[in-house]
Amino acid sequence: MKGLILSGGKGTRLYPLTYTRAKQLIPVANKPVLIRVIEAIREAGVEEIGIVVGQTAEEIKNTLGDGSAWNAKLRYIPQESPDGLAHAVKISRDFLGDDPFVMFLGDNVIEGGIAGLIRDFDMNEWNCQIVLKQVDNPSAYGVAEMQPNGSIKALVEKPAHPPSNLALVGIYMFDRHIFEAVNAIQPSGRGEYEITDAIQWLIEHGYSVFPHVHDGWWIDTGKPTDMLEANSHVLEEIQPAIAESAEIDANSTVDSRVTLQAGARIINSIVRGPTIIGKATVIENSYIGPFTSVYHHCQVRNCQIERSIILENSRISDIDQTLRDSLIGRNVRVQRSDGKPSGIKMNLGDHGTLWV
Ligand code: TTP
Repeated sequence: MKGLILSGGKGTRLYPLTYTRAKQLIPVANKPVLIRVIEAIREAGVEEIGIVVGQTAEEIKNTLGDGSAWNAKLRYIPQESPDGLAHAVKISRDFLGDDPFVMFLGDNVIEGGIAGLIRDFDMNEWNCQIVLKQVDNPSAYGVAEMQPNGSIKALVEKPAHPPSNLALVGIYMFDRHIFEAVNAIQPSGRGEYEITDAIQWLIEHGYSVFPHVHDGWWIDTGKPTDMLEANSHVLEEIQPAIAESAEIDANSTVDSRVTLQAGARIINSIVRGPTIIGKATVIENSYIGPFTSVYHHCQVRNCQIERSIILENSRISDIDQTLRDSLIGRNVRVQRSDGKPSGIKMNLGDHGTLWV
């Protein structure tokens, strides 16, 4: 069994953060989503992992190296342009050989890992298994129509009249027959080789495609609101810990669901969990509310922040209103201006959004 992680793509829906960084490397609870994916695959016992990379290849390679930090053997597979998920499978043929494999989208976060799925696929003689999740609004997703024997009859993309409420999650198991499918299909209307078309091809050519219905939460971190939701879920799951080198002064209150990483300092502040404060980050005269991740080397002074993600080396100070539901990039400055004439001053990047 091998693993294939799709980590190319453009990440346009997460602009401006993904102008300068791979979206799979944005941290959720202070750990990049892509590292969470590698850990999930390793926990399921899979060691050889191919990573499909696009224009952010260098940044991804610099972060993951050869994978030995996770006892994984990584192989990078360059994809010239993001021509679709089935295209990514097609170009990975040399790495995958004839082995069965699990394919995971590098920007998805799932509760409870994938060991159960891999066991399910191992125990059966199926050609493909797709992960499905019950959702309230199936029209927004790729949806599965089932056969009476429990196998998949068809996959329909964003149907007006959904045949079920089971949506496709970005995790798939395949055997070598998927290569016949990806070589047979044509690009869709949007010009991509769609994995749903390849799976449909398998069904129509007599191969068995079965579902694995996932009970817990699953989030595709494509948009800022999804990042915040994934962050909240993961913060609830992680085991809180206070690093030995972290400091909490006598005037601060830090509750039991807070994680403080090495060298974090809490001065005259209240921190309520689930929350994580990164390495060498300083929180002073502030309130940090639940579901917040402040990454490494940040400074927060005289502020109130709730349910937000703040990336490395940013400084936020002297803001009167509570900052909430916000996604703040790297090296950002948010501060009060007392100069006259008074007003709101901003220096926002392309595609940024400011709510006042
Ligand atoms: P998507 O979220 O479908 O695409 P995207 O990353 O281009 O994002 P956006 O729509 O915001 O522009 O991709 C899902 C995952 O698969 C993501 O981790 C990127 C990866 N991917 C590839 O590796 N190759 C591809 O050809 C495509 C389309 C996606």
